[in-house]
Amino acid sequence: MKDLKYKSEDTNQISDELQICSTDDGSISLKSTKYKERFHSNTGAKKEAQEKFVNTSNIQRFKKGQEICVLDVCFGMGYNTATLMEELEDKQIFMTWWGLEIDKRPLEIALRSSTFKTNWSKRILTNLKSIQNSNQFLDTFYNGQIIWGDARKTLRQISPKIKFDLIFHDAFSPKQCPELWSEEFLTGLANKLSKDGRIITYSRAAAIRASLRRSGLVIKSILPTDPKTLDWSIGTIAIRRNSKETDDKSNKFTQPLLAREEEHLETIAAVPYRDPTGDSLSHEIKKIRAYEQSNSSLKATNSWKEKWGDTKIE
Ligand SMILES: C[S@@+](CC[C@H](N)C(=O)[O-])C[C@H]1O[C@@H](n2cnc3c(N)ncnc32)[C@H](O)[C@@H]1O
Repeated sequence: MKDLKYKSEDTNQISDELQICSTDDGSISLKSTKYKERFHSNTGAKKEAQEKFVNTSNIQRFKKGQEICVLDVCFGMGYNTATLMEELEDKQIFMTWWGLEIDKRPLEIALRSSTFKTNWSKRILTNLKSIQNSNQFLDTFYNGQIIWGDARKTLRQISPKIKFDLIFHDAFSPKQCPELWSEEFLTGLANKLSKDGRIITYSRAAAIRASLRRSGLVIKSILPTDPKTLDWSIGTIAIRRNSKETDDKSNKFTQPLLAREEEHLETIAAVPYRDPTGDSLSHEIKKIRAYEQSNSSLKATNSWKEKWGDTKIE
């Protein structure tokens, strides 16, 4: 597909250009020049939403007539929410939804693309268009609203009384966007979980897992679905310790951490990203972490890599 480019100035004063690209499942994605990353993996934007975020939501536990509460952090083009709506279709489950996103362009670009629109039912497209036009949607079973802005600040605008059954966390990688992976931000998300709620993310980074665990959550690994892959994990789910969901053995998409993953958390890769004020710049967060890593008594991550084989992500 020919790349199309959309330019804007963002809040960090660095020009960000979004380029449309295609993925292997035929769904479109975007690449950000500021973050130097694609929004989705090459294998497929829609496939990724299904495999990493929706399969692991374990929606079979929700019953007809029940109301669930969902938070989509880094809504972007809306794949994770739209795929969840598709999965909930006909189940007669009520959903209250909140979205957090800093940039309106990904959804605008998505809704201008006929390739994107062919993925979704009329009902889902109506809800996505409503988010674009009025920052909210309402239909028979769903009501939702998006808050535009830096998620570190907008998260605080959600009443502490609201607790989420599902929190999707789909920021750019910790190396590119550490501000949304700080221990403080992750703890803020953990505090918003309902009793049996779960945070779901594609990240398997040791720093993220260690922070989620320190915030009182039980960590599980998301299993790769491709039988030919050498990948050991495609993400993390985090559940409150006293939840009955922690020993749910029926979910074939997740499992407790393997020895390799536990040992990963004993290396300097597990040193957290810190942002106590909630407004540090990316480079400041990375600098403080690098300093902490250089003074850490944790094992070198290289020896862990040598023991277990190479990995793409720390
Ligand atoms: C990997 S993309 C998310 C993909 C999205 N879930 C989808 O399905 O299209 C990361 C998103 O994070 C957003 N973002 C970056 N920094 C942010 C911040 N501080 N607060 C909220 N959103 C942010 C970007 O604009 C981008 O849309």
